[in-house]
Amino acid sequence: MDRKKITPLDIQAMKKEGRKITMLTAYDYPIALLEDRAGIDIILVGDSVGMTVLGYQNTLPVTMDEMIHHTKAVTRGAKYALIIGDMPFMSYNTSERDAILNAGRFMKEARADAIKLEGGASVKDIAKAIIKAGIPVMGHIGLTPQTISMLGGFKVQGKDAEAAQKLIDDALLLEDIGSFCVVLEAIPAPIAKRITERLAIPTIGIGAGVDCDGQVLVVHDMLGLFDRFTPKFAKRYVNLSELMLKAFESYREEVSKGTFPTDQHSFHIDEKELSKIK
Ligand code: KIV
Repeated sequence: MDRKKITPLDIQAMKKEGRKITMLTAYDYPIALLEDRAGIDIILVGDSVGMTVLGYQNTLPVTMDEMIHHTKAVTRGAKYALIIGDMPFMSYNTSERDAILNAGRFMKEARADAIKLEGGASVKDIAKAIIKAGIPVMGHIGLTPQTISMLGGFKVQGKDAEAAQKLIDDALLLEDIGSFCVVLEAIPAPIAKRITERLAIPTIGIGAGVDCDGQVLVVHDMLGLFDRFTPKFAKRYVNLSELMLKAFESYREEVSKGTFPTDQHSFHIDEKELSKIK
């Protein structure tokens, strides 16, 4: 297959052509390499790295330096997918200047293709400033983990008419200011459908039903590598934890019993040479 690097414009064209968009998170080189090989369109270096890889309780402690470190590994692994750097908590909320500088770090230092930030009307001016600086922005509304304390926990959003209307307005606003795409997280499927129909830019759903223009999953959820909690919307395609645990146990057992390494895993020296050594 003749493949070329995917751009934000390609992602927008997919909506027009009625082709579903696939997106997964990745935080390191080997996973990025495999996702790219599988033909995933967008790789998000999500701040979910804080929970899935770094062991934080939530995404709030994640720093810009940590995000840059992981994004660099992903951009070294994926050649074709559009790579998005996720702006961590307090990297864009303080001022337009901070937001532009930090978004710029994703592009200059980590070689990302775009950034994502959470929020609708509340981040309007900041998102606009980043776009004006020439950096493509993916929006993210609904359940926004960085404002989890304000939302009262990991809950489905937009469940009454007023809250749903606010989501629709936020999505339209994000399109209006020039975002190239928007993530809809944990919102009722009929509301996501309405947003998807009203927007010209693509919607990428996570817990937002099948009518979004594309879907995203956290890779550790879909591989069964994170079980501190599993949201209803996270489909587990394989249980790697189980396989890895079995491998670690077998290794421990074989080393303890002296059955690993075998001859097959060892290096040899000519008997004649060996005999010369005192
Ligand atoms: O950080 C992340 O992984 C995300 C996705 C859930 C969209 O923001």
